[in-house]
Amino acid sequence: MGIRASGAAVFLLFWFPFLADIKRSSWATDVVCSPRERQALLNLKQGLSDPTNFLSSWDSTSKEDCCRWRGIGCDNRTGHVVQLNLRNSYESSIGGDINHHLLQLKHLRYLDLSGNDFGGNPIPEFLRSLQNLNYLNLSQSGFGGTLPPQLGNLSSLRYLDLGNSVRLTVENLEWLSHLSLLQHLDMTSVSLSHVDDWLQAINKLPHLSELHLSSCGLTNLSPLSHVNFTSLTVLDLLWNNFTSTIPDWLYNLTSLTYLDLRINSFQGTISNAIGNLGSLRHVYLDLNDLHGSIPRTVGKLCNLETLWLSNNRFTGDISTGFLGDPSKCIFDSLRELRLEWNQLNGTIPKSIGQLSKLEFLAISHNFFQGIISEVHFANLTRLKTLYGTSNSLILNVSRNWVPPFQLTGLEIGSWKLGPQFPSWLQTQKDFFSLNLSNTGISDNIPSWFWKLSSSFSLIDLSLNQISGQIPGLQNIENYDAAIYLGSNRFTGLIPRLSSNVIELDLSENLFSGSISHFFCDNTSQRNNLAYLDLSSNLISAEIPDCWTNWPMLSVVKLESNNLSGNIPISMGSLTQLQSLHLRNNNFTGVLPSSLQNCTNLLTLDIGENEFSGSIPSWMGQSLKQLKILDLRSNKFSGRIPSELCHLAELQIMDLAHNKLSGPIPQCFSNLSAMVSDQKSIYHIGYESSFRKFQDTASVVMKGRSLEYSKTLTLVTSIDLSDNSLSGQIPENLTSLLGLRSLNLSMNHLVGMIPKKIGDMGLLESLDLSRNQLSGAIPQSISNLTFLSHLNLSYNRLSGKIPSSTQTLSFDATSFLGNQELCGPPLTEKCAGSNNQLQNPTTPTGSVDDDDGFKESFVVSAALGFLLGLGGVFGIMLLNESWRSAYFKFFVRLCCGPPKRQYR
Ligand SMILES: *[C@@H]1O[C@H](CO)[C@@H](O)[C@H](O)[C@H]1NC(C)=O
Ligand SMILES: *[C@@H]1O[C@H](CO)[C@@H](O)[C@H](O)[C@H]1NC(C)=O
Ligand SMILES: *[C@@H]1O[C@H](CO)[C@@H](O)[C@H](O)[C@H]1NC(C)=O
Ligand SMILES: *[C@@H]1O[C@H](CO)[C@@H](O)[C@H](O)[C@H]1NC(C)=O
Ligand SMILES: *[C@@H]1O[C@H](CO)[C@@H](O)[C@H](O)[C@H]1NC(C)=O
Ligand SMILES: *[C@@H]1O[C@H](CO)[C@@H](O)[C@H](O)[C@H]1NC(C)=O
Ligand SMILES: *[C@@H]1O[C@H](CO)[C@@H](O)[C@H](O)[C@H]1NC(C)=O
Ligand SMILES: *[C@@H]1O[C@H](CO)[C@@H](O)[C@H](O)[C@H]1NC(C)=O
Repeated sequence: MGIRASGAAVFLLFWFPFLADIKRSSWATDVVCSPRERQALLNLKQGLSDPTNFLSSWDSTSKEDCCRWRGIGCDNRTGHVVQLNLRNSYESSIGGDINHHLLQLKHLRYLDLSGNDFGGNPIPEFLRSLQNLNYLNLSQSGFGGTLPPQLGNLSSLRYLDLGNSVRLTVENLEWLSHLSLLQHLDMTSVSLSHVDDWLQAINKLPHLSELHLSSCGLTNLSPLSHVNFTSLTVLDLLWNNFTSTIPDWLYNLTSLTYLDLRINSFQGTISNAIGNLGSLRHVYLDLNDLHGSIPRTVGKLCNLETLWLSNNRFTGDISTGFLGDPSKCIFDSLRELRLEWNQLNGTIPKSIGQLSKLEFLAISHNFFQGIISEVHFANLTRLKTLYGTSNSLILNVSRNWVPPFQLTGLEIGSWKLGPQFPSWLQTQKDFFSLNLSNTGISDNIPSWFWKLSSSFSLIDLSLNQISGQIPGLQNIENYDAAIYLGSNRFTGLIPRLSSNVIELDLSENLFSGSISHFFCDNTSQRNNLAYLDLSSNLISAEIPDCWTNWPMLSVVKLESNNLSGNIPISMGSLTQLQSLHLRNNNFTGVLPSSLQNCTNLLTLDIGENEFSGSIPSWMGQSLKQLKILDLRSNKFSGRIPSELCHLAELQIMDLAHNKLSGPIPQCFSNLSAMVSDQKSIYHIGYESSFRKFQDTASVVMKGRSLEYSKTLTLVTSIDLSDNSLSGQIPENLTSLLGLRSLNLSMNHLVGMIPKKIGDMGLLESLDLSRNQLSGAIPQSISNLTFLSHLNLSYNRLSGKIPSSTQTLSFDATSFLGNQELCGPPLTEKCAGSNNQLQNPTTPTGSVDDDDGFKESFVVSAALGFLLGLGGVFGIMLLNESWRSAYFKFFVRLCCGPPKRQYR
């Protein structure tokens, strides 16, 4: 048959559907389509929904030859419809029912329904009858259910794409082995987790050239005695659950050009045999659990352009390894080398300077040492990105060095560059991200620095000793720029800001003066600033009432300055606000009731000021998300409002050192976040594009003030000390089983210590000192095995101190000033009793252990969103942090303005 014979030329069209589409109208010059097929198409249209009128040319009243209808291709000799291409890239797409009239198109060779939305309907079984099909593309078309194995009847198929069918499940792949001509198979995101023998099925496809099985839930990668599919050029197994070693058969795939095994849990080492795969151009093995050294034979891969090995456990010295010998041909081909987050050591070989095609080099977070000099960059004329943060490297270049490259990204935090500000940066005009934090620079900031680039998205100069003033930062054009200048010696006024900046950290500097120009002058535009940290400076005067200009603010840190006056009413307009830190200033007045509009607040830290008035009841009614409430050391007076008991998320309540009176509310037992002893796995922190900020709280525990950040989520504390609270300690306070610290000292509390105090099994610190508590110390207190700080001194307690391991580990100061208390550790003997000793053991457990939240979780979570975007996003990785960059890219690509999250 002529159709079959059309051979290679026609087949080329199948690989490039768009090309086929263009050719369409020239196909049928003499012949017209048969009335039968025309009617079939009209009937087919009947079943479909077509909101964008994609099929408007399929019109029964039109006289046009149906071979000229949109998406139709006919054979130029017989006039039969051989191609149906309904590929759709519109937002609202074709849906409905594919009815059996399709089968009238008996000569169909090419069927593309991709990019449509068939609403989870199953793939019709009757497709099996389209025996001539050699191209079938059902990708991204919303088919669901179980894949019909009848597709195995389509024995002419060469191209089968079922990719990105998130709702499609496959029970077995036996049918696949009947498609022995198959060259291209894509089942991305199809669930194959129930198919154990997938590899055996694939191995029956000797002509297979491309295999895409990413995110299919595959776990099993059994060995093959003989690999049949040696024509494979593309192997894409991204994001599955493989935990085996890289299989030996892979090293027999000598035609392979593209290998993607990233985001799995592959173990073991890379075999030297990788050197046999001389066609390889792109290798992605990042985010696995591989170890050992990177084989020297990698240096022999003459076509290798991309080598991503980051986020594994590779060790060894690359200077004697695959980059050791500059005569190897990898030096002429490599464009992207990513080695970050491994355990590589040794020096960076000078030969790296001869990777003349290199554009992207990431070596951050390894154990590299030594000096990097101009030689290392000698021939790197195309280098755009250098990420090297967190290594013990020293950059030693001459003062008038003119580098051969123009970088967009330079992130070499923790390298040693200083003490002088690197003047060669002047030659770089395209910076997008620049991280020179903690690089030992102690110099005046040169004025040219601020004019370097208007496309800055990241400037990080934090943790240096850089001095000087900062001119206005209004020229920053990148719409979500982040500027981190914290922990330096900058002086002068806080600089005015471009509305594009989303994060500004100027903390721990010597900025002074007022801040009203900063907040109020910038009224014309909508400011995007979400994170503002001006803490620990010398800023004085009042906070201006211009907060309505800053609607995106989510974190505001102004603590430890000399600010005074009231909190302005407009602060209530910050409806995104999650974290407000005003601690350690001189603020006065009452809290404005407008703050109850800030319903997203998680942290309200206004301790160590001069605020007065009563604690507002709206705090409990409106700020329902509060986790941290710190009003310590102010002049709040009146009763503690019982509304605070509605704060179901509250973990830290610090009302100490105020003038509060009246009883402790009975309902405190409703503070449910303190009732459960479950460890929260979430951070209290701010996820930004470039950094993960940890929120902080200072908590007085065990008699010391401790700054918590990383383990903040584990801290639960109530501190009401140094007020004038009266009445009894509510009995049911002991139902707060998750509480770790309770301080009620220096009040006027009377009555007994609650009998069930021993129920509060997580208590580490208990201070009831300097009250008027009476009666005996409850025996149950001996159950508090984690207790390491106990103070019951200066009360009116009486009787014998319960003698247990626990109480005996405290010395007399814990009990002093209770005239009728007796027994060890006090020297007073109890009348007519003998003390029994039990085995002393040391208490264990501590609140400040690491919470074990692995960053890698975040990585895979963020990557999860990105599946299906394929290799494209590689180019977009302009920032070194994997998680951040993926996250940011995701946000940019699909989901509008970044959503900042507390977790
Ligand atoms: C028909 O199409 C084939 C393949 O595209 C082409 O080689 C041939 O020249 C065409 N014949 C006519 C008559 O257009
Ligand atoms: C290799 O392919 C051939 C032909 O399709 C098949 O007969 C043979 O069983 C395959 N080998 C294995 C190990 O699957
Ligand atoms: C893959 O691993 C992840 C994490 O270990 C697990 O949540 C998921 O259920 C696994 N998927 C399959 C199909 O086994
Ligand atoms: C790989 O190739 C070698 C040599 O060509 C051969 O001996 C071996 O059996 C092959 N392995 C597999 C799994 O096909
Ligand atoms: C590099 O690490 C290996 C172990 O992975 C160790 O044996 C070697 O001594 C280290 N070399 C240097 C220079 O630290
Ligand atoms: C840089 O590359 C050119 C051409 O590839 C070569 O001639 C020259 O020697 C190289 N320079 C260095 C320092 O390696
Ligand atoms: C508050 O103001 C007083 C005087 O008005 C001053 O002595 C004190 O240092 C200030 N405190 C802070 C934290 O700025
Ligand atoms: C607080 O919210 C109320 C009601 O939504 C609104 O009328 C008021 O203007 C808001 N206050 C501020 C300061 O934004």
